[in-house]
Amino acid sequence: MTEDFDVRLVEDVKTYTPDPQYRKNAWMGDYQKAYNEFLADPDAFWEKIAKELDWISPWDKVKEWNYPYARWFTNAKLNITANCLDRHVNNHRRNKVALIWRGEEGRERIFTYQKLLSQVARFANALRKIGVKKGDCVCIYMPLVPEQAIAMLACARIGAIHSVVFGGFGAAALNMRIQDAEAKVVITADITIRRGKAIQLKAIVDEAVINAPTVEHVVVLRRRDPLVDLHEREMDFYEMMEGMSDDCPPEVMDAEDPFFILYTSGSTGKPKGIVHTCGGYMVGTYYTCKYVFDLKDNDIYWCSADPGWITGHSYIVYGPLAVGATVFISELTPDYPDAGSFWSMIAEQKITIFYTAPTAIRMFMKMGESWPDKYNLSSLRIIGSVGEPLNPEAFEWYYRVIGRQKCPILDTWWQTETGMLMITTVLGEPMRPGFVGKAIPGVVADVVDKDGNSVKPGTGGLLVIKSPWPSMLRTVYHDDERYRKYWETIKGMYTAGDLAVKGKDGYIMILGRADDIIIVAGHNIGTAEVESALVSHHAVAEAAVIGKPDPMKGNSIKAFVILRVGNEPGDNLKQDLLHHVRTTLGAIAVPHEIDFVDKLPKTRSGKIMRRVLKAQEMGIDPGDISTLEE
Ligand code: WTA
Repeated sequence: MTEDFDVRLVEDVKTYTPDPQYRKNAWMGDYQKAYNEFLADPDAFWEKIAKELDWISPWDKVKEWNYPYARWFTNAKLNITANCLDRHVNNHRRNKVALIWRGEEGRERIFTYQKLLSQVARFANALRKIGVKKGDCVCIYMPLVPEQAIAMLACARIGAIHSVVFGGFGAAALNMRIQDAEAKVVITADITIRRGKAIQLKAIVDEAVINAPTVEHVVVLRRRDPLVDLHEREMDFYEMMEGMSDDCPPEVMDAEDPFFILYTSGSTGKPKGIVHTCGGYMVGTYYTCKYVFDLKDNDIYWCSADPGWITGHSYIVYGPLAVGATVFISELTPDYPDAGSFWSMIAEQKITIFYTAPTAIRMFMKMGESWPDKYNLSSLRIIGSVGEPLNPEAFEWYYRVIGRQKCPILDTWWQTETGMLMITTVLGEPMRPGFVGKAIPGVVADVVDKDGNSVKPGTGGLLVIKSPWPSMLRTVYHDDERYRKYWETIKGMYTAGDLAVKGKDGYIMILGRADDIIIVAGHNIGTAEVESALVSHHAVAEAAVIGKPDPMKGNSIKAFVILRVGNEPGDNLKQDLLHHVRTTLGAIAVPHEIDFVDKLPKTRSGKIMRRVLKAQEMGIDPGDISTLEE
């Protein structure tokens, strides 16, 4: 806990007051007024938002709260793609650009709402033809190309449950996710392109499906000439669409039907399949895109995440399209072909809203101001951040250099589990670097002690959400007990697993994870997952993994490894272990340091005390070590 947190540090920060125009023109209007409206009647608040969307038939009740289970918009029927696509095509946005994709070497592809709908419908019909039905799971393991969004939307169209797996995961991680979700189809591409290099994605899928008996088909987007050969049960993405009708009636979904599964790291070796449902998720992402990101018809919006993460699900695909926005996506990295790649795209595309991650911002800072200074960034009106704490130095740089001391920064706190962003400083409210801000209207957040008592301003504790919200996770796939834990760690509230400090005026500062999850460059990595990957190597007897603060990545991964007898520590073995983690879990989970040790600190009951390792590593007091074995 953080009771001894330095309060001066918290209260001395500078406050930035945005131009009053922002509040005046914002969809949300005045924050306090909107918040009070929510408090006065939470169900009426959400109902009003839900009514802005198209439903096949309306709900009986806005919410049914049967702690810890919530149902939202009970018995209502809908299809999210009818809101993301048809609603716009049938109104004035038929020819509006929905998606602009930019690849390396200046390649650009543009989809109007009409064109996107027709592609989605054709691919959805193709999926139906190979036997995909409502409730079947489809695993999507693709690069950041329009077909990734098309595959997601096509699943949604026919009520198939997608499980998108980030293209940076390795074969074992992918296999585990395919097996857990019992995926019937895997959709992939031959390659992904990163910094001018082609990375073989399909080869990873080939390995991942060996031990995946539920997989009936693998669909491959073939990007490269000559086309890769397809084997038994493999089919080509576009060949499947040939001759398919572009009329695909949307599947009628109940508001509480499962919509998608997205895996996130947990404190055991097994990732958690977070389950979201159709109605509440749609309302939550639509609401936050419109009223927090303030998306207007003439915005060109760019979220630099990958749809393989929740940020991409909610703020590249479903939320912005539900609002009818123009969404820019790109396969480019911030430092390739040069350190100006992102800024050149903002200038070229006249991006108005840019949403990225602190790890990227810190990388931009390191590469220097001269890069953004070369480009005209004056189209930007709002800039955002998500994924880990935006430290005050990074805030100030982002505000000054990218936002040109004019654009409000939306530092948004949320999680895979929450579906939508929950805490931020909405447009027009004073911004305080280091603090994310306050709960948005619709959300009740607090910082509490371990018994659930609200802490005093200037004090630290656990971040909690005190009442249900529409886009909350409904369960953990195949593991409802893990779901209940979120609400039972502190009776009656949702525990996020983050440590936070409450500042004055209720502003919240997020400190980081309270559990065994390490956020590395914005990606959640479970210590247990890395440990089991290490232990699966024949030379390793035991492993313990900790996160160490890192100025660029937020945290770096350090592993302590005990070898099996007969193995000698050394550089070759170290390289071999790193390679092993890379191929099983993926590049994002590779330790930055490995130490070979003879012993690990353990409790008398045999649990590894990572806290002690971390304290040793950082030269700080390990705290209570009374349970440590001799
Ligand atoms: C962290 C990402 C500080 C936090 C949307 C949370 C943040 C975890 C912020 C969820 C932020 C996210 N400031 N920390 N603005 N946003 N986090 O599931 O620890 O990939 O619990 O969802 O990221 O990560 P996830």
